[in-house]
Amino acid sequence: MASNSIKKIGVLTSGGDAPGMNAAIRSVVRTAVYNTIDVIGIKRGFAGLLSGEIVEMNARAVSEIVHRGGTFLLTARCSEMMQETGVERAHKICQVLGLDALVVIGGDGSFHGAQKLSQLGTNVICIPATIDLDLDCTEYTIGFDTAINTGMEAINKIRDTSSSHERCSLVEVMGRHAGHIALWCSLTGGAEEVLIPEMHEKVDMDMLIQQIFANRSKGKNHNLIIVAEGIGNTSKMAKEIEKITGIETRATILGHLQRGGSPTAIDRMHASMMGYMAIDVLVKNKKNRVISYVNGKYEDLDINEALNMKKNFDKKMYDIIKILAI
Ligand code: F6P
Repeated sequence: MASNSIKKIGVLTSGGDAPGMNAAIRSVVRTAVYNTIDVIGIKRGFAGLLSGEIVEMNARAVSEIVHRGGTFLLTARCSEMMQETGVERAHKICQVLGLDALVVIGGDGSFHGAQKLSQLGTNVICIPATIDLDLDCTEYTIGFDTAINTGMEAINKIRDTSSSHERCSLVEVMGRHAGHIALWCSLTGGAEEVLIPEMHEKVDMDMLIQQIFANRSKGKNHNLIIVAEGIGNTSKMAKEIEKITGIETRATILGHLQRGGSPTAIDRMHASMMGYMAIDVLVKNKKNRVISYVNGKYEDLDINEALNMKKNFDKKMYDIIKILAI
């Protein structure tokens, strides 16, 4: 990398934590140090920026974290960044701290906070990290692979007890607005049905029950249905299924279990590459970029273009889940 006009940067993690965030921080810090850029870590995301929670970073400050889940910089959701006064204060604090750029590691909400900062003149570089995989500008978000592996392993275990008791099992996985985790967990966990916000504005209980009966008559001795968090009411749905079908039904809500754990190789790899890329674009004097993964390659996109991108829901995986459940 060539020498550049960037002398000092800040890095923060924001929004829901995701496995691999630590590996991304490590990569940002070490690539910056390699390029003789000073780095400060900002604790608790934008909330910590607003309250001046700063830690000096060097290459050793990020030792022994590549394999750890969560984020050692801590994270928070920050409502103040949704207001103009909060954004103005954050911009002023970046100036006072002498930051030439701020690296924001997080998801959609964090990127929108960063975008507002960029409009006031703070140079922001965003790294996608959320277990939900719900950013339209990138084909990968750090944390997704670990989350789906956690989900798949939990489903394997539920399958054992579900089949032993010949029950109907509903497993709720995370994903408030997007069904990616549910789709991947269903395909890899061998579920017969998946309920996701993209396909089920309202769950058709009659159809679901007909399908449970149909699958039993095909010789299946238990039922495995994955529900995305965005659908909601999983426990209530389980009670209703049991009441109508007479089949013992249980709901398991995986919840925050899916946000934890040591990141998989895939997550560590993307985190390390994207952290490197974040500094690489700064060294090339680029401003306000989102690091993204498209067609097997890492790219940097203008933040406004990135946040305007819209991906259509691809129904293929949903259809395949149904075919394989025959
Ligand atoms: O980070 C994404 C996510 O895990 C979503 O899947 C989930 O809906 C949400 O965060 C939960 O947020 P919180 O940890 O604030 O309850």
